[in-house]
Amino acid sequence: MQQRSLKNVLVSGGMGFIGSNFIRFMLKNNPDFSGRIVNLDVLTYAGNPANLADIDAAYQGSRYFFEQAGIGDRQIVENIFKKYEIDTVVHFAAESHVDRSILGPEGFIRSNIIGTYTLLEIARDCWASRRDVLFHHISTDEVYGSLGSEGRFTETSPYDPRSPYSASKASSDHLVMAWGSTYGFPVTLSNCSNNYGPCQFPEKLIPLSILNMIEGKPLPVYGDGKNIRDWIHVDDHNRAVWTILTKSPAGEKYNIGGENEWENIRLLHTLIDITARKAGLDTEKLRASVTFVKDRPGHDRRYAIDCSKIKKQLGWNQAVPFEEGLGRTVDWYLANPAWISAVRSGEYRNWIKRNYEER
Ligand code: NAD
Ligand code: TYD
Repeated sequence: MQQRSLKNVLVSGGMGFIGSNFIRFMLKNNPDFSGRIVNLDVLTYAGNPANLADIDAAYQGSRYFFEQAGIGDRQIVENIFKKYEIDTVVHFAAESHVDRSILGPEGFIRSNIIGTYTLLEIARDCWASRRDVLFHHISTDEVYGSLGSEGRFTETSPYDPRSPYSASKASSDHLVMAWGSTYGFPVTLSNCSNNYGPCQFPEKLIPLSILNMIEGKPLPVYGDGKNIRDWIHVDDHNRAVWTILTKSPAGEKYNIGGENEWENIRLLHTLIDITARKAGLDTEKLRASVTFVKDRPGHDRRYAIDCSKIKKQLGWNQAVPFEEGLGRTVDWYLANPAWISAVRSGEYRNWIKRNYEER
């Protein structure tokens, strides 16, 4: 099996949820990586320097470098490629929340489509004379659309995105694969299911529900609560990305998933039991705060991932059992009230006010 070595890795979107966990994994928990990481992040509402305060203190200026810029800032990003002699891109940067994309798609088109196009072109220019390089694009299972009660998405499932978010990610996937076919540019792509874990912005189901429980607020469930998602711990996702970076030939695409399907309402009840136990809250009161609200427009019914390709071809496997991972996630939010209040006091608050409270 191919073994690629990585020296200078550009991580885009490294202050966000998955990117920050990826950087921590690479620098702290991955003895097989001894190179440097440059974190390129423009710091939207979702980019939070507190996610990497420990990494900044331990590695800034030696193995870790933060550069605040957008992936579309061509001149700045070109200079970063040259300054750090980048040989690998792991492209996480994106607008990532479906509900926001429904309320305002423009930023999704700008960052996810035009931003990815610009980053591809910068990398292609800067790497024109190099062969030992790789551009890995991080994407989602949502590009495949919505499933009925049967079947799972494979790497050859047709694309059928149904939200502005998933349409923008599908577009970026097509650009990345087309750059591979047309220009012989070395790309890989992964489509992962729903991630959970520490540092996830509290607009997504799991962290929003944990925080609302702690704060005694209602727990909103969209529609009938029977939509199904496949959940994976962020560490399992990031180990899969590392596996692809080091072992995959260029031009390949992999599905990554937890093989762990849950109806939203069943997941919420499990999360209630765990949070009640850990935070000393009353399970019955928490259950009573579950509130069925108007459904998300175009709400995809079911996602399920067939990830046998990465398992068979590259030897990756999930390692974090779901209820243990959920427990650790609840522990993290309970242990980090300062992170929560910082996140809640900033642009997030303003955005909620503009988009919800003033409507
Ligand atoms: P996130 O919203 O937590 O973080 C996104 C990060 O990208 C932020 O730090 C933000 O500041 C940065 N960013 C956004 N636009 C940028 C731009 N134009 N230039 C530079 N930086 C920019 O997102 P996440 O949940 O960590 O997701 C990361 C990636 O993984 C995304 O591409 C997303 O589509 C993909 N993904 C997410 C999930 C999930 O469950 N969260 C599942 C599969 C795939
Ligand atoms: P989310 O975490 O937004 O991820 P995605 O839409 O990318 O799958 O939502 C996960 C599921 O939970 C999805 O079916 C929508 C639902 N949901 C709720 O029922 N209530 C909520 O408050 C949120 C944020 C999501």
